[in-house]
Amino acid sequence: MAQDEIYSEHIPVLRDAFVGALFDDPDGYYVDCTFGRGGHSRQLLERLSADGRLLALDRDPDAVAAGEALAQCDPRFAIAHADFARLGEVLAEKGWDKVSAIGFDLGVSSPQVDQAERGFSFRQAGPLDMRMDVSSGQPLSRMLEHVSERELTDVLRRFGDERYAQRIARAILTALREQKLNSTADLENVCFHAVPKQARYGSTHPATRTFQALRIWVNGEMDQIDAGITAAIEHLRPGGRLAVISFHSGEDRRVRDLIEAHVHPCVCPPQMPLCVCGKKPTMRWLHKKPLRPDEQEVAVNPRSRSSMLRVAQRLSEEESVRLAGYVGGLQ
Ligand SMILES: C[S@@+](CC[C@H](N)C(=O)[O-])C[C@H]1O[C@@H](n2cnc3c(N)ncnc32)[C@H](O)[C@@H]1O
Repeated sequence: MAQDEIYSEHIPVLRDAFVGALFDDPDGYYVDCTFGRGGHSRQLLERLSADGRLLALDRDPDAVAAGEALAQCDPRFAIAHADFARLGEVLAEKGWDKVSAIGFDLGVSSPQVDQAERGFSFRQAGPLDMRMDVSSGQPLSRMLEHVSERELTDVLRRFGDERYAQRIARAILTALREQKLNSTADLENVCFHAVPKQARYGSTHPATRTFQALRIWVNGEMDQIDAGITAAIEHLRPGGRLAVISFHSGEDRRVRDLIEAHVHPCVCPPQMPLCVCGKKPTMRWLHKKPLRPDEQEVAVNPRSRSSMLRVAQRLSEEESVRLAGYVGGLQ
C-alpha cells in the first residue's frame, strides 16, 4: 500500500483539538492507543522534535501494517500490535515509565467499517465477525451460538440503548435456530422486521444500535476502556495529559466516570467538613464538558457527528496533597 492510500482511508475526527490537547512538549514521549490509519499520530509527529517519541498501539493487524510502514520512514515512531488493556505491559517492554500524554480515539475506523468482509456494516453483506483483532477471540457467529435470549437482550440494552432489545434478541436467536442468519445482510433484515412498523423508517436505521451493541460485546470494549484508561492514568508524568474521543453516550459515560474517580476520589459523606478517607486526587479536568466537532467538520466528515472529546491532566504530588483533605475536592 502506498502511504497516500494508507492515510486517505480514515479522516481523523476532532484532529486539531485532540492533538492540541495532547501536545505540550516537542521532546516529549507520547502514546496513541488507537493508531487506526495514523491521522492523529502523523499530526502529532509533525509537532515533535528529533528527540520526541511516539508509540502507537492497535489491536487490528491491518492498522499495525499501516503503522509499520510509517515506522520505516520515521525513526521517532513505533507501533505495537496490542489491545490497550495491555498498555502497561507494552510500556514496560519499551522501557517507558511515565509519559507526556496518552490519547484514545475509541471505536472502529472507516477502513474497518468499509471492508464488508470484516462484518461491521449493515450496509454491505459480510460474515458475522466484527472482531477488530481477527487473530484472536471469537467472531459474532460463534458468540451467538452460546448466548441466551436474556443475555442478548441485556447486551443490546447496555451497549446499544436499544428500545426494542428483547424483540430483536428473540428474532436474532429464532433466525439462528432456523439457519436464516448467515451474514450481516441477514442480521440487518432481522432487526428491520423485529421492530414495530412505525420504527422502521426513522432517521436512524433500526439495525444501527444492534450492530453497535454487538460490536462492543464481541470486542469486550467496555472492559478495554476500564483497563486502558486506568493504565494510562498510572503512566502519565505530572502535568501529563489524557485525551479520549468517544462516539456514543455509554462509552462517554464510562470514560467520564473513570476519570472523575481520579479527580474526586474522596468517599467521605458530604456533611463532613474535612476529608478523613485519605484518598487523594490524581487528575484534574481540562475539558470536563466534552468538546464536539463544529458544523464544518461534520459536513466534511459525517462520521464525526457523534464524537465527544474529554481531556484531563495528571496532578503533581504537591497538587495532589494540596487538593486532598477537602470533601468532594475543590475543583
Ligand atoms: C477510530 S479508529 C482510530 C483512528 C485514528 N485516530 C486515525 O486518525 O486514523 C480506532 C482504532 O482503534 C483500534 N482499537 C479500538 N479498540 C482498541 C483496543 N481496545 N486496543 C487497541 N486498539 C483498539 C481499532 O482497531 C481502530 O483501528
